[in-house]
Amino acid sequence: MEAAGKEEISVEDEAVDKNIFKDCSKIAFYRRQKQQLSRRATYQASLDSATTGKDSTKFRIINETTKVPLLVEVYGIEGNIFRLKINEETPLKPRYEVPDVLTSKPSTVRLISCAGDADSLVLADGKGDLKCHITANPFKIDLVSEEEVVMSINSLGQLYFEHLQIPLKQRATKENKEDTSVDASQEDQEDLGLWEEKFGKFVDVKVNGPASIGLDFSLHGFEHLYGIPQHAESHQLKNTSDGDAYRLYNLDVYGYKIHDKMGIYGSVPYLLAHKPGRTLGIFWLNASETLVEINTEPAVKYTLTQMGPVAAKQKVRCRTDVHWMSESGIIDVFLLTGPTPSDVFGQYSYLTGTQAMPPLFSLGYHQCRWNYEDEQDVKAVDAGFDEHDIPYDVMWLDIEHTEGKRYFTWDKKRFPNPRRMQELLRSKNRKLVVISDPHIKIDPDYSVYVKAKEQGFFVRNHEGGDFEGVCWPGLSSYLDFTNPKVREWYSGLFMFSAYQGSTDILYIWNDMNEPSVFRGPELTMQKNAIHHGNWEHRELHNIYGFYQQMATAEGLIQRSKGKERPFVLTRSFFAGSQKYGAVWTGDNTAEWSYLKISIPMLLTLSITGISFCGADVGGFVGNPEAELLVRWYQAGAYQPFFRGHATMNTKRREPWLFGEENTQLIREAIRQRYALLPYWYSLFYRAHVAAQPVMRPLWIEFPEELDTFGVEDEYMLGSALLVHPVTEPKASTVDVFLPGSNEVWYDSKTFALWEGARTVKIPVALDTIPVFQRGGSIVPVKTTIGKSTGCMTDSPYGLRVALSTKAR
Ligand code: GLC
Repeated sequence: MEAAGKEEISVEDEAVDKNIFKDCSKIAFYRRQKQQLSRRATYQASLDSATTGKDSTKFRIINETTKVPLLVEVYGIEGNIFRLKINEETPLKPRYEVPDVLTSKPSTVRLISCAGDADSLVLADGKGDLKCHITANPFKIDLVSEEEVVMSINSLGQLYFEHLQIPLKQRATKENKEDTSVDASQEDQEDLGLWEEKFGKFVDVKVNGPASIGLDFSLHGFEHLYGIPQHAESHQLKNTSDGDAYRLYNLDVYGYKIHDKMGIYGSVPYLLAHKPGRTLGIFWLNASETLVEINTEPAVKYTLTQMGPVAAKQKVRCRTDVHWMSESGIIDVFLLTGPTPSDVFGQYSYLTGTQAMPPLFSLGYHQCRWNYEDEQDVKAVDAGFDEHDIPYDVMWLDIEHTEGKRYFTWDKKRFPNPRRMQELLRSKNRKLVVISDPHIKIDPDYSVYVKAKEQGFFVRNHEGGDFEGVCWPGLSSYLDFTNPKVREWYSGLFMFSAYQGSTDILYIWNDMNEPSVFRGPELTMQKNAIHHGNWEHRELHNIYGFYQQMATAEGLIQRSKGKERPFVLTRSFFAGSQKYGAVWTGDNTAEWSYLKISIPMLLTLSITGISFCGADVGGFVGNPEAELLVRWYQAGAYQPFFRGHATMNTKRREPWLFGEENTQLIREAIRQRYALLPYWYSLFYRAHVAAQPVMRPLWIEFPEELDTFGVEDEYMLGSALLVHPVTEPKASTVDVFLPGSNEVWYDSKTFALWEGARTVKIPVALDTIPVFQRGGSIVPVKTTIGKSTGCMTDSPYGLRVALSTKAR
């Protein structure tokens, strides 16, 4: 380790320091929105001048205080999707609109205006069963399906839009001075963080001034919401009324705290709401810092005046209000109207793409640690798996494999002959994954640095020079992956001719790509750093990591001349990252509570498009006791991305180091994973072609059964297997909920049969992994297990057929 790295590790070894990270009270745009919204200035729509074109219906809305006109565009999109865009009609300069996330321009359906006057307008999509009722004053939109209002937008009047302004100092005329959406005295300015925001020793200077946006959505009859990863929180979203909002801001939080709504590594600004008979999605396409408040109102009686005649029919309904707030950009929101969970998955994947089909080997077991020291170490660990008859597919090398954390190089002493090492792995049909982070060591002798510098490929600081920050290698600059030329060049670095010592069994791990900047505000990049196109970092922070994974995956595709599927693991992600590979949940801790929370965290990723996800098996920080490690392997074997990993200075924990009994337990868990490979592969195929999540919360399979809506200690793999990992120490029983009054379930080990719609107490020993097969399903398996997936090509297939109630 070099000095800079060491220093940071000792800092990081502490539990999460909450002073490093902001809570809502420290976020200026949040304070501004709260303050302004309490003044209740409303928007009014000019519906008499609405125009309906081929793609969208447009009209203008005006805030009664600021008088600044905003342009509203309502689009109907193929497959029961509505899109609502709100922007300034004539902004001082363009506002950021997130590029590269939508797979292509979504096909629009022409909206038909069914009724309308100056006070209201009704738009219907082609088939006429979905309608947008737009009310002029105060401006609101109701989404109506078959005469039922399912969602109202701005019904709470939280539409908020700070228009771009000329900085106070530059305003010459009195007229201009009045032109401010946030009416603040000079003293207030600091607290409101209009042009400058302080956090600890950091000052964020905002050349564009305040530019935040917000909007509320009321979901009628809904009290179960899910999504907006990533948080170390429950699967079902919680009420935020008595605490912090859910924050979407990609941050490097070592050993993150659980049951917390702070932002961690990735952000998908997309949530789902579910009730019997209908699932909805709200996809808020914005890559700046975003906050989401959730407030569920228990069932109340709506009156005619509150909701209008349609709603009067809905007698007693609960309601959940969702309030989105972002620091900048525009309001660009997609309403996915379902009606089934599966329809919503299809609608979201139509917009952002489906899960990339993983290469088969990547569904096997991955062995990682920070760090495998040298070629000898790799050889010994690899041999250990064979000696102990444990299958595995991929050996991983962390940052120490490089020459001083210069990615794309090898430490010559530790790894003198990387090709030889890869040939050894290849001989057993195994692969290698190495790390490649986005920070590039500032070093005039490092060719990657020199070339990127020459071509102006780094993110710039606000003064125009290259941005410099500290990360693993010490002082570094950060590649600007938002620039297509940088991505193209970076992809080229993975060509075999460019990447010395790489072979076609080498794949890539992108880490620290939030991006992590050790001495930066909240350990990330200053918001006023400058990207391609002169956009400030604040506009696109949450999508930085997405772009690195995109460029890496493209590089791996190119090096194989388009023949092979890439494998790229990323820590940071955004909506659509599923197209480029896998995601893991970052630096978790070797404690039972982290094993437990891995399930809801992965379920949330899975339903927001990211099926290929996993958590570090064993827990990254700290040393797991043998029982926890065993239970973690058993859980990980039944989670989509299955990798053991541990931080530096932890005790070695290869599966055979805990005595013969534990070795046997881990061997058995990994072998169960390999036996089920055909099933995993089929599930990923369904995720790839039909957007069906691999790991599913029970409510997706049983959408009409209320009992399933809050379950997060067990889940389905596809529609056939129900898994309830043991996540408690010294467990002798687990309570397994088996859903479905018409279902039967078979214990996959004992074949014991259980009727559905009940909770059963299952005795568990250390070797029990509670897995149940659903009656009426067939699960394909391999009947003999080899050293790796590649060694099992010719091993026979079996089918596990479970009879349904009808067949008995
Ligand atoms: C980060 C990653 C971790 C990795 C370490 C060193 O903490 O989350 O997985 O081992 O960096 O690269």
